[in-house]
Amino acid sequence: EKKKDYLGKRVLVTAGPTVEYIDPVRFISNRSSGKMGYAIARAARNRGAEVILITGPTNLAPPVGVKVIRVKTAEEMFKEVMKYYPEVDIAIKAAAVADYKVEGTSKVKIKKTEDSFELKLIKNKDILQEMGKAKSKQILVGFAAETNDLIKNAKLKLEGKNLDMIIANDVTEENSGFDHDTNTVKIIKNDGQIIQLPNMLKEELANIILNYILELKVKR
Ligand code: PMT
Repeated sequence: EKKKDYLGKRVLVTAGPTVEYIDPVRFISNRSSGKMGYAIARAARNRGAEVILITGPTNLAPPVGVKVIRVKTAEEMFKEVMKYYPEVDIAIKAAAVADYKVEGTSKVKIKKTEDSFELKLIKNKDILQEMGKAKSKQILVGFAAETNDLIKNAKLKLEGKNLDMIIANDVTEENSGFDHDTNTVKIIKNDGQIIQLPNMLKEELANIILNYILELKVKR
């Protein structure tokens, strides 16, 4: 039986990938099953929080007792996040947002008549960065999915996006990152402290992340 230490807190969680359409039947996307974000949403709910889960397309069952908002594109995720963000105490961004979208998405199915085909991509808004800029009372927690220079890259995101904590996720490690039920991460707090965690179930990691959030010292 978990203690209800999140009672009275509003928590916004994002999860899953975003998809960016090429035409009505094709898209580009990022790898993410949604498992990490959904585990955080469930853990926060179990500890008494009011949870809003904004999710890209996943095959996971929607958690009971959580407000679930489904989106597809990064633009849709941005809009929904910004709608709820002002009212929450804590925001945790586990989603794998596509950094680029297709310029000039075709309204009709593109025919495969050409031997080669070029896609022009244009930058999506960095949702987390916008949240960092708009931060008032919220505790803002991000993820960093990295294949190299894990700590260095995660610290750049922690500072550059005005976060209070970041979960550094080396996605090349075994039984870690995308799709797996387990994950291996390092947590970097706003005071520079780095917590190295062993491989564990995403369920368990979700609770550890929530523990560290409650311990954060934030000046607002
Ligand atoms: O879903 P699973 O299969 O369980 O896998 C979990 C996970 C590997 C997806 C997850 O643990 C994880 O690392 N999520 C972050 C993925 C990611 O896109 O990382 P990033 O380093 O590219 O982005 C850094 C942060 O900025 C993230 O919090 C991301 O949500 C946010 N971001 C990025 C780009 C963008 N345009 N908008 C954003 O908000």
